[in-house]
Amino acid sequence: MTAGEIRQQFIDFFKDKNHKFVPSSSVVPLEDPTLLFTNAGMNQFKDIFLEKGTRSYKRAVNSQKCIRVSGKHNDVEEVGHDTYHHTFFEMLGNWSFGDYYKKEAIEWAWELFTKVWKLPKEKLYATVYTTDDEAADLWASQTDINSDHILRFGDKDNFWEMGNTGPCGPCSEIHIDLGEEYCDKKDTKHICQVNGECGRFIELWNLVFIQYNRDDSGKLHPLPKKHVDTGAGFERIVAVLQNKHSNYATDVFMPLIDKIAEITKTDYKKAVDKSPYHVIADHVRMLTFSIADGGMPSNEGRGYVMRRILRRAARYGRKLNISKPFIYKIVPVLVKNMGDFYPEIADRQTHIQSVIKAEEEHFNRTLDRGLEIFDKIKEELRAKKKKIIPGEEVFKLYDTYGFPVDLTGILAEENGLSLDAAGFEKEMEAQKNRARSASKFDARQINQTDWIIFEDTADSEFVGYEKLSIETEITRYHMDNDTLHIVLKQTPFYAESGGQVGDKGTLSGEGFELQVLDTRKENEHIIHICKSPGQFNPETTKVLAEVLQSGRMDTAKNHTATHLLHAALRKVLGEHVQQAGSLVEAERLRFDFTHFNKIMPDQLQEIETIVNQKIQLNTTIQIAREKLTDAKKKGRYGLIR
Ligand code: GLY
Repeated sequence: MTAGEIRQQFIDFFKDKNHKFVPSSSVVPLEDPTLLFTNAGMNQFKDIFLEKGTRSYKRAVNSQKCIRVSGKHNDVEEVGHDTYHHTFFEMLGNWSFGDYYKKEAIEWAWELFTKVWKLPKEKLYATVYTTDDEAADLWASQTDINSDHILRFGDKDNFWEMGNTGPCGPCSEIHIDLGEEYCDKKDTKHICQVNGECGRFIELWNLVFIQYNRDDSGKLHPLPKKHVDTGAGFERIVAVLQNKHSNYATDVFMPLIDKIAEITKTDYKKAVDKSPYHVIADHVRMLTFSIADGGMPSNEGRGYVMRRILRRAARYGRKLNISKPFIYKIVPVLVKNMGDFYPEIADRQTHIQSVIKAEEEHFNRTLDRGLEIFDKIKEELRAKKKKIIPGEEVFKLYDTYGFPVDLTGILAEENGLSLDAAGFEKEMEAQKNRARSASKFDARQINQTDWIIFEDTADSEFVGYEKLSIETEITRYHMDNDTLHIVLKQTPFYAESGGQVGDKGTLSGEGFELQVLDTRKENEHIIHICKSPGQFNPETTKVLAEVLQSGRMDTAKNHTATHLLHAALRKVLGEHVQQAGSLVEAERLRFDFTHFNKIMPDQLQEIETIVNQKIQLNTTIQIAREKLTDAKKKGRYGLIR
């Protein structure tokens, strides 16, 4: 059976049980700020679990593109060192949204595994959460699993959470015993067992019984309805069904590995160390899919993770004696293999290849420059008869020249030198402190209990598109030394967001007149930051809120200009251009965006012309409020950050 057939059988099995097939969501979740990459099939259904969204169906099935390289689920260190962890993988899943629960989830998983795919029952194990008697009983009563193979584990293994916050619940996993020869732990004290961290027992399918939401403070809140969220590792299942000793030996990876061997003119079968092939084959998938979904290598956030993954692949390429750009050449093979099911990689193949190639070239330049500096450091040490590279030098190479620390370590070793690791850590810490103290007041730092509350309203209503001056009421305030934070019932003050600075102005009431120096947002509260004239103790909560008009109008114009610029950039440079940040003030604007190459002078000219022409049209601006998802569909540039 091919991998494609296996995927389809999973989908068809659940379609037959009245599940709706829902295509994979983007692996780059632009609309969820709590996630760098989609890390589970349930991410796109999070709103249903939290009762914030609905669908026309109660049961779903899909194969979701996932990346686990950061945050709570991070497998990057394992990749290349074992045969079953990946940065990018597909998660097969079935869902019940307040419909069926544990019984059906367990019964159907067992049916698919043992009746349809005929996996050997005696090799399968089921784990349940330590207190979940219901799930343990169901395994015993609804399946013919060996009762000694029903095992209980605690929070670490059998309580599933997508991140530090969000929907979660106890889970039940199916593991398979692949046989003694699969154990990859050389340690003599190691005992092969379920959840024993070796390659012999591996998890194939996780059935999560979503029933809680974890909030920011770590507290669990029961959800109004109970749901099923399952995730099965596609590549692992393919390996088991194709009777292969490793995920890399399946038809998911072999075409990529063959291509790598062809490009590097090496022999994979004869290679003693196969990890370079595995790492590169794994990483090219992560890069291809994340770029197809709008990700771009850069210096921060998800872009930085992508950059590091690309550099890791490029460094492993050097182990196969290839230093010129080559990763981009593997992309067509991946597109041939997976482009039918995921057409986005076929549609954007040229773009994906250009981005990867440009980034490989960029890395080579970084390496060349870093090597030059490393040589200078080496000469200086030799002259001083020293053998330890000072922490500041390692830091400078890393911070100023983007030279990876592990590479400095490898070079040092090759040259009989070592690194001052403690000195390097000290520099890193000092940099973090500098960044911390440079960051301005953060409204989020105010504790709930530190507010003086007049009226505990959930939101402040923003009316500042229509009015710049209104009479309203103070709902809460907080005083910290001489800074006063005030929340109003309604406000015309625009809070800093989307890069636009917060409004300035005045708040006047009986016995006080306050200068608002900045406006920030915390959840749905708009916070006016004022310098307090001595003790603030208002007799009534009534207040006249007035925004400083001139500042707001100039800032608004510059904000509109960022949208014009964004649209022009996409037109001239391509649809991949994404806003990466912006600063909008009364006097100026700055717009950061992602693009993989230099902008040529004629392109710059064209961008300027488009923006200027639009400004000269003097079009009337229309203000509308819409859901982020709807706005995205209509291509409202600049909303999506
Ligand atoms: N949401 C199930 C899993 O990721 O394992």
